[in-house]
Order: sequence, then structure tokens, then C-alpha cells
Amino acid sequence: MIQMLSKTPPMGWNSWNTFGGQISDSLLRETADAMVDNGFRDAGYKYVVIDDCWSKLSRDENGRLQADEAKFPKGMRALSDYIHSKDLLFGMYSCAGTRTCAGFPGSFEHEFIDAETFASWGVDFLKYDFCFKPNKADGPLLYKRMGMALRATGREILFSACNWGGDNAETWMRSAGAHMWRSTGDIQDNWNSIKDITMMQLNKECYSATGCFNDMDMLVVGMYGKGNVGFGGCNDEEYKTHFSLWCLFNSPLMIGSDIRNLSKKATEILTNKEVIAINQDEEGRGAYLASNWDNTRYAWVRPLSNGEYAIGYFNFSDTRTDVILPWWDIGLPLHSGYGVALRDVWEHEDIGVFKEGFNKILDPHACAVYRAKIVKI
Ligand code: GAL
Repeated sequence: MIQMLSKTPPMGWNSWNTFGGQISDSLLRETADAMVDNGFRDAGYKYVVIDDCWSKLSRDENGRLQADEAKFPKGMRALSDYIHSKDLLFGMYSCAGTRTCAGFPGSFEHEFIDAETFASWGVDFLKYDFCFKPNKADGPLLYKRMGMALRATGREILFSACNWGGDNAETWMRSAGAHMWRSTGDIQDNWNSIKDITMMQLNKECYSATGCFNDMDMLVVGMYGKGNVGFGGCNDEEYKTHFSLWCLFNSPLMIGSDIRNLSKKATEILTNKEVIAINQDEEGRGAYLASNWDNTRYAWVRPLSNGEYAIGYFNFSDTRTDVILPWWDIGLPLHSGYGVALRDVWEHEDIGVFKEGFNKILDPHACAVYRAKIVKI
């Protein structure tokens, strides 16, 4: 039976951020092992996705894509079977243009045959990029085509569209059949990139919901400046802020670091169940910006399915300072007779009931995230 894919934001791992073109059968198998052994599968991550650079430079005599035998000597079906044997799902990558961004064959005018190939390999997820699109070809139509080709296979394949938010993707990508759509250019492993991607999300909260989520790009948590997009690196505080934002904003959570050798702190960040529960909330509502002081101190608020709210406090400035949020700004009049009970989801701790508001002093680039319950006082 075909089920609804992407009921909540997809979670998994993708090879690109750390490994770029340095991918192989053994890397993918070891990563699948690490997904299980290091607790990622149990935390909800299930897709193991190979990004660009997996194929040969040409199609076979029947026009089919073929795996690079030097990197994947056992073939894609065997790798797919291995990943499935771990109770994980298998993802691959292609491109709407004539070539992928790294120059391998793209799916332009081969959409249906490629979708068949992916289905025959047991693929459960397809990331679909946007390089080398012929100028006169209509971008939205190309995503509709691949959306249709994937559906025609009869296999459940999650469609991860990656046109970097072009052509106002938020307004049509859901109708093209995508289950997630990239809203930005490529993330880099540094604080400015995290900040910039976050600020590009303002006013897009209504375009991310059950069935099709706004993809803020793969996570850089735990890269510490190493790997393909490791330009500068972040500290643990910044990774925690990055993860909190992606969770609050309903983004898919695709890990981009080397999970075979991840620091304890980064593993804790990526597997914090209370923070993930906000991301995976079944109503899939977006967060709105409730407080902005000096364009550096922000609070975002998001209603959750059990009647509670998620509230995130963020200090984007370079000095230690407070983030201020009067409850008046989130809908609670001063003399309502109600207050807000807060639970710190990073610390797993109830911190009390607050009547008029709550302010949080934060280190540079740090955050605090709460579950909030509106209670009679
Ligand atoms: C970019 C895409 C990246 C990665 C890369 C591969 O266009 O945004 O996430 O897939 O191509 O070449």
C-alpha cells in the first residue's frame, strides 16, 4: 500500500557535506552501520543518501545510468539491500539538467527511464538537483516530470527537489509532487552560513507543512571545518543553535557529517529526542518571529499538536546579551489569568511558570529552546 511520504520532515544522512565525490560502497555501508550503532536510527534518522558523483560519465548502450564500478564494485542493488537489511532507507541523487553539478549524466529527457532504474535498485528517496538545465527548458515542468516519473514506478520514492529556491519554488514545488524543496543555495560549515540561511526563511513559514517541507539544506553539525563544505567550521554552541533552528523551522534533518567518527557532543546534539520531537511534530506548523531586537536577538514561536508551543531564544550577536519575550507578543494579554510553564528541551528540565514574559541571557551565537504550556495562575 502506498503511504503518505513526508508526513513529518524527512530525517537521514547525505554524503555531500563531508565527502563530496569521495564516496564508495564501503563508506556507505560503514555509515549505515554507524546509523544503527551510534543511535541515529533510534533517534529517527532513516534515509542514507548518496549525493553527486556516484555514476559513470556515460550511460550504457540502453541509455541507462550506471554506477561507477571503481566506487561501487558490488553495484547499487547490493548496497541498497545492505541498507535495507539495517532497517534503513536508501536515497540517491540525480539532476534535472543534462549533467549533474559535478558533470555526471543528468536526467534531462531521461526522467522515466532513470526513475525505473532507481526503482529497480530499491531506491526510496531521490534528491533532484538543478545544474545544466537547458536555458529554454521550463524548470517547474522538469520537476513535475520527475515527480510523475517517480510516481509511475509504483514504488514509494520520496522526491527531494533541489533547485535552490529558484523560480519561487515555494509557490509550486508542492504541486509538482515534491516532498521537500530546497529553499537556499548550499550551506557551508560556518556561523555566517547558518545565520544567512536562517534569515532567508522569514515569511516562508507558510510554505512548509505535512507532505512537503522547506529544506534548509543538509546539517553541518559535527563537521568542525573538515570535509567538502567545511569552510571555517563552527563550535558546539553554534551547532546546537543550527540544529535548534532547523528543528523549529520544520526543516528536513539530513546529517552531513562523518557519523562513523562523530564527537560525543555533536552526537548528543543530533540525537536529542525532545528537540527532534519539535521538528517531528505531526501538525507541521511553521514558527513565526515573535521578537526581534536590534536584528540580532530573536525569539521564534511555533504551536505544537498537543496544545503546547515551542519557543526558541537566539542570540545572533557576538556579545553575551539577553533575548526578551513578553507574552503579550505571543498572544497572552497581561491580565488574562494565564501564565506560561516552560520546559527546557535541551536540558530536559521544567523551569517554572512565568506570568508576564521570559527573558534569557545567552552567550554569543547561543540559544535556548522550550516547550511552553499555557496554564491558569
Ligand atoms: C548542488 C546542491 C548540493 C549538492 C551538489 C552536488 O547543486 O545544492 O546540495 O547536491 O550540488 O554537486
